[in-house]
Amino acid sequence: MTAPTPLIAGNWKMNGVAASLAEALATAAGLGETTTRVAICPPATLTDRAAAALKDTKVLVGGQDCRAETSGAFTGDVSAAMLADAGASLVILGHSERRAGYGETDALVAAKTSAALTAGLEPIVCVGETLDERKAGKALQIVTGQVRGSLPAELAGKAFSVAYEPVWAIGTGLTPSTAEIEEVHVAIRATLVEMFGDHGKTPAILYGGSVKPSNAAEILHAAEVGGALVGGASLKAEDFLAIIRAL
Ligand code: 13P
Repeated sequence: MTAPTPLIAGNWKMNGVAASLAEALATAAGLGETTTRVAICPPATLTDRAAAALKDTKVLVGGQDCRAETSGAFTGDVSAAMLADAGASLVILGHSERRAGYGETDALVAAKTSAALTAGLEPIVCVGETLDERKAGKALQIVTGQVRGSLPAELAGKAFSVAYEPVWAIGTGLTPSTAEIEEVHVAIRATLVEMFGDHGKTPAILYGGSVKPSNAAEILHAAEVGGALVGGASLKAEDFLAIIRAL
């Protein structure tokens, strides 16, 4: 079995213009000898410029979503092949902001994940429960159900990661306790092994939701936490680097 390679990815969401690439370059410049994989996922308008700017650095570039179809009459959408062509090597899929805002189902996320693989992109598939679901004692059931439904069989043998992002922790400053994070991550790992056998031991399971310099070390050292998907704190190189260094 290969131990998961840690990954810290910054999800810029709908933030960033050309001038913001200075923060991505400052992140790259501050990485030093780290063996952690680091990625920045800017808005699609910046994919090619970010990839060009970061070409000779250790920072990978990712997309934030892609369409399941390869091309066609889908106004406003971006395909996985387009992201790859623009220089992305990863893509975030099934983020809760897309599941909630655009009605993305597990089946659609699985189709997008297949499309990403076909285009040669490494998927980061997001799962997570709402506060009501957690209060009802259903967090594990919801999250493991999303893992089963959102990860297509073609992922067998492929590089991918899963991001556990409790919806109630995103952008709120709230985080689950370390024990709660570990309970969910251990359940995700067991589900991955059930689905993919030994290969299920290799994907990094990232935590996302209000990760910041002050809580990063504790979260990143919890059992089965193989990195982080960072929103707001990834927009400033100083904060993002502090999180990367906490691993
Ligand atoms: P915040 O780190 O801003 O809470 O966002 C988390 C997230 O949604 C990353 O995908």
